[in-house]
Amino acid sequence: MTDPSLLPILLVPDTRLRAKAKPVAAASGDAIRALSDRMLATMYAAPGIGLAAPQVGEMLRLVVIDLQKEESRDPLVLVNPEIVAESAETATREEGCLSLPGQYGEVTRPARVKVRYLDLSGAKREIEGEGLLAACLQHEIDHLDGVLFVDYLSALKRNMLLRKLAKELKLKDRH
Ligand code: NI
Repeated sequence: MTDPSLLPILLVPDTRLRAKAKPVAAASGDAIRALSDRMLATMYAAPGIGLAAPQVGEMLRLVVIDLQKEESRDPLVLVNPEIVAESAETATREEGCLSLPGQYGEVTRPARVKVRYLDLSGAKREIEGEGLLAACLQHEIDHLDGVLFVDYLSALKRNMLLRKLAKELKLKDRH
């Protein structure tokens, strides 16, 4: 029943989620294309709107995003993404993460960002995002440096959420 193209998503507290990912080498085109295809399939199946390679145990600077507006697919693959500009103005939205299933928190981040990245053909690209896209870009790029959305919450809220997750995963394990 399980689709073999799907990758298992690492969950907190897996230490790989806290490690810094390495830049993708220019030469690894085909492998990166295959990995990004599997990451997209895994993200759609989850379902989610973004996934970073470290979340599937690949310690590479690779992110896939698809906000799936109006339920139509428009996948974005970002190789070696880097935030090159961000607005002083901030925005607060509720965030969740496939590595912390069922947990949500209000995160404040720059409202707009500009991201430089390589596409799958190795071409230099830039994307500017605001709203949900800005939050998603920042959330996924954070994953490449071992940063999770809970790191932006108060210690009290963060610990509460992590305890709740641990409890829920333990219960799930038992069934
Ligand atoms: Ni996440």
